[in-house]
Amino acid sequence: MKRYRIGVIGLGMGKSHIEGFQSHPAAEVVAIADSDKERLAAVAEKYAIPATYTDARKMLAGEKLDIVSVVTPNKFHRELTIAALEAGCHVLCEKPMAMNAAEAEDMLAAARKHDRRLMINFSFRFRPQSYAMKKLVEAGELGNIYFGRTVWLRRRGMPGFGGWFGTKSLAGGGPLIDLGVHRLDLALWLMGYPEPEWVLAGACSPIASEIAARKGVPYNVEDFATAMIRFKNGAMLELEASWAGNIKENELMETRLLGDKGGLHQYNLNGTYEFDVEFYRELAGCQYDSKLHPPVPECHNAQYSLMEAIVHDQPTPVPAEQGLAVMRLLDAIYQSAASGQPVKLG
Ligand SMILES: NC(=O)c1ccc[n+]([C@@H]2O[C@H](COP(=O)([O-])OP(=O)(O)OC[C@H]3O[C@@H](n4cnc5c(N)ncnc54)[C@H](O)[C@@H]3O)[C@@H](O)[C@H]2O)c1
Repeated sequence: MKRYRIGVIGLGMGKSHIEGFQSHPAAEVVAIADSDKERLAAVAEKYAIPATYTDARKMLAGEKLDIVSVVTPNKFHRELTIAALEAGCHVLCEKPMAMNAAEAEDMLAAARKHDRRLMINFSFRFRPQSYAMKKLVEAGELGNIYFGRTVWLRRRGMPGFGGWFGTKSLAGGGPLIDLGVHRLDLALWLMGYPEPEWVLAGACSPIASEIAARKGVPYNVEDFATAMIRFKNGAMLELEASWAGNIKENELMETRLLGDKGGLHQYNLNGTYEFDVEFYRELAGCQYDSKLHPPVPECHNAQYSLMEAIVHDQPTPVPAEQGLAVMRLLDAIYQSAASGQPVKLG
């Protein structure tokens, strides 16, 4: 069996990329890069990675890699993805694909130019409950989906408060681009990525900005955002994301889909990253609720899924075109929030 040489850039969430690739028999994580020397050494030791680099470009030049994961702060996704594609590698880039749609377009163009795969890590698709939902939608059990609501709200959950996540020039935005992006992709994927027509949105930072000022740390992104998206097929999707909000739950994730035959609801359990799915419909004039019962469908992680696609010459599990579609929506949401006006797409 051909062995694929993998490199991972950025070793926070990058550790889970190492684990994901190491779960596939044809993948070998041979090199890692991180500008933080201590983190680099600790991760190399933990996962027995032979080559380490503080400069990712040196890794790309020296290692003849087949696949590279880009898992750095959002600001560096574009430049490192394009550098890896130019070095002849397939790329798995973390979400959000980029800081904005213009950057994402550059990345997609580079992937096409160099004829390499570019996948975006919308990791919440790679959950058994998400697979189960997709199967139900594809089996036509929802009928025509005319409305969705997709949400990730935190009560007080600013990641690395005072670090790059709250700095617009490094992150591109706040919880919308960080958390909302996952729930947006999940809903769009289940709805078949319909073409958006209008966006009306709002964003603000009533809580986190005040905490940051008190702590004396930089913070210049929203802590809450909401949007209503209308698609050309007439369907509507409501999106909510927060890092701070006066709600009961510490962490609330849910995605609802309403179809004319049935309705689906995925929700997290007790503030964890574990999920359940319920399905609602009318049968013989009565209303029924049902719940996904174990065993849930088999489901691989994103890295394993990309490996399978490469080894068996199958389509890329999350193609860059969908990452770009999400970035265009995020741009429109931020634009609408800033202007107070609806934004027309397409
Ligand atoms: N898919 C998911 O569920 C998920 C979860 C968490 C984070 N993420 C994404 O992963 C990315 C990283 O987030 P994180 O939480 O790991 O952040 P982090 O700050 O914990 O880690 C980022 C790492 O990148 C390193 N780094 C920064 N610039 C670099 C450069 N130019 N070259 C090499 N290394 C560099 C830093 O030293 C740090 O170790 C972000 O895009 C984030 O949105 C995705």
